[in-house]
Amino acid sequence: MAKQVEICGISLDLNEPVSKEFVPNCTEFMESALDQRNLKKLVAGVKKNYPVLLVGPTGSGKTSTIKWLAYKTNNSYRRLQLNGSTDIDNFVGRWTLNKEGTVWIDGILTDAMRKGHWLLLDEINMALPEILVIINSITDDDRILVLDEKGTEVVEPHPNFRLFASMNPTEDYSGTKELNTATRNRFIEIVVGYPSPDMEVGILEKHSGIDRELGKFYGKDSLKGGANCPKQDVTSGQGIVTFKPLLESMVEFANIIRANNEHQKMLGVCSTRQLIQWANLLDVLPIKNAAYVTILDKMSKEDLKIAVPELDKLFKNDTTLKDFESKQKEFEKIKQGILDKEDGAVLDVLDEPPSATTNTTEDSEADWSVESIEEAFQLLQKELNVSDFPVSNNNV
Ligand SMILES: Nc1ncnc2c1ncn2[C@@H]1O[C@H](COP(=O)(O)OP(=O)(O)OP(=O)(O)O)[C@@H](O)[C@H]1O
Ligand SMILES: [Mg+2]
Repeated sequence: MAKQVEICGISLDLNEPVSKEFVPNCTEFMESALDQRNLKKLVAGVKKNYPVLLVGPTGSGKTSTIKWLAYKTNNSYRRLQLNGSTDIDNFVGRWTLNKEGTVWIDGILTDAMRKGHWLLLDEINMALPEILVIINSITDDDRILVLDEKGTEVVEPHPNFRLFASMNPTEDYSGTKELNTATRNRFIEIVVGYPSPDMEVGILEKHSGIDRELGKFYGKDSLKGGANCPKQDVTSGQGIVTFKPLLESMVEFANIIRANNEHQKMLGVCSTRQLIQWANLLDVLPIKNAAYVTILDKMSKEDLKIAVPELDKLFKNDTTLKDFESKQKEFEKIKQGILDKEDGAVLDVLDEPPSATTNTTEDSEADWSVESIEEAFQLLQKELNVSDFPVSNNNV
């Protein structure tokens, strides 16, 4: 029996490819960007050999997800970007002349079907009608391809052959064609959204090599449990201030743009792809400058009226990545110094900030703790120019 790999509780055969030529290497990939429900749907489709169509916004991870699943299962992965000039010759095959005379060359579909590769048809809705007719025929119950150009040769799909397709939602992308119902009907359809913030931060971390903790100048729980944290006052430096890590702030910016787009307040978008470009530019350009190059420069004047203030709120100054990194080092040093002095007591407090309503005069321990934190902050504020860094909104 073939070795198996379990994904979302479904076991898939691990392929033993004859050649590794088209088997992707996705070591930089963490996991699929799909949520568990959609991933399960995709894996079930693969298991049962149903064609699967992913519909979602540009740069949301549709193509990468199929590539990742091929990698996980050791399958060969091929991709064809369909457009108005993809013809039967490219897709199915053609006769051509060479030294031996007239020979037949398989197109990508025929080759993938014979060899048992996975084939992803990107932007399937852009396909010409004659291509869609072929897709409809190979997704019919018998799954065969008849090569009319070669008499009537019948190509039976290899058991490992799988067909996938992707497209952007037609209602959101002007100029994209609707996919006809007959074709759409043959596929299992998965509607893909952007990855969750946590996952998107992970994607950025993998692609850019920037530590997801960079810029997180304060304790663990204070980032999560907003309700427990005293109000922050960044300007005066009073109370607990939590600095949001750089990557988290970038994802937050993207999600603000997406929410505005969804509520039709702006036309511009910010895809995972753009976020990756932004993060990858940070060793060359300061943060806001890089945001303009990758995201804001593509927006209309009207969109910028919303996007620019949001960017300015998250990033006060146009700091560089290097600055972030050196401040982080300084912070760690200072924190370590405080910890050494207080014998670890401050760390406990930072991990579990006292409630805003704590009556510190009645509780000597809380009183002591708050004082220690304030002390720590005063020191930090003095030593670091912390107002340059994004501040967590979670505990405001
Ligand atoms: N889970 C993930 N892990 C790592 N990188 C990811 C993940 N999902 C997406 N990406 C990255 O995000 C970028 C956009 O992904 P992808 O090309 O798959 O989007 P798409 O939905 O196919 O976009 P389009 O509709 O424009 O074709 C790529 O650089 C890809 O490597
Ligand atoms: Mg794609």
